[in-house]
Amino acid sequence: MNLMADDANLVAAARAARENAYAPFSNFKVGAALRAKSGRIFTGCNVENATYGLTICAERVAIFKAISEGERGFDAIAVCTDTEILTPPCGACRQIIWEFCGDIPVMLSNLKGATETHRMSALFPRPFDASFL
Ligand code: THU
Repeated sequence: MNLMADDANLVAAARAARENAYAPFSNFKVGAALRAKSGRIFTGCNVENATYGLTICAERVAIFKAISEGERGFDAIAVCTDTEILTPPCGACRQIIWEFCGDIPVMLSNLKGATETHRMSALFPRPFDASFL
């Protein structure tokens, strides 16, 4: 699949962020890159912990970095892993992506350059969100 230049940059940012992954327990390194509507890109990697349960995924690191810096409104997120079958965000990350980004495209990629894009509405049908409160 041929990505547009902005999307290719986002995928490249996710790939670079993956290098910073702290994943000594799983050895499964993940990078993410979130693009704000302002054009700013926020990256994240997974950060594991010896307690395992305190591990945080790359996607949530990227989103929380952006939110904590005051950014709002996002139009795409990219995720990069070293797998043949491209890795989609975990369930917890889907909930958080939905909260802050809604129905954005999620670009999956690997180190060989394979990419796939799925909308959040396909990855996360019938979400719980503030509309129910
Ligand atoms: N992981 C992510 O960072 N993002 C995902 O979407 C899937 C899983 C991380 C968590 C953990 O550090 C490792 O991958 C294995 O589950």
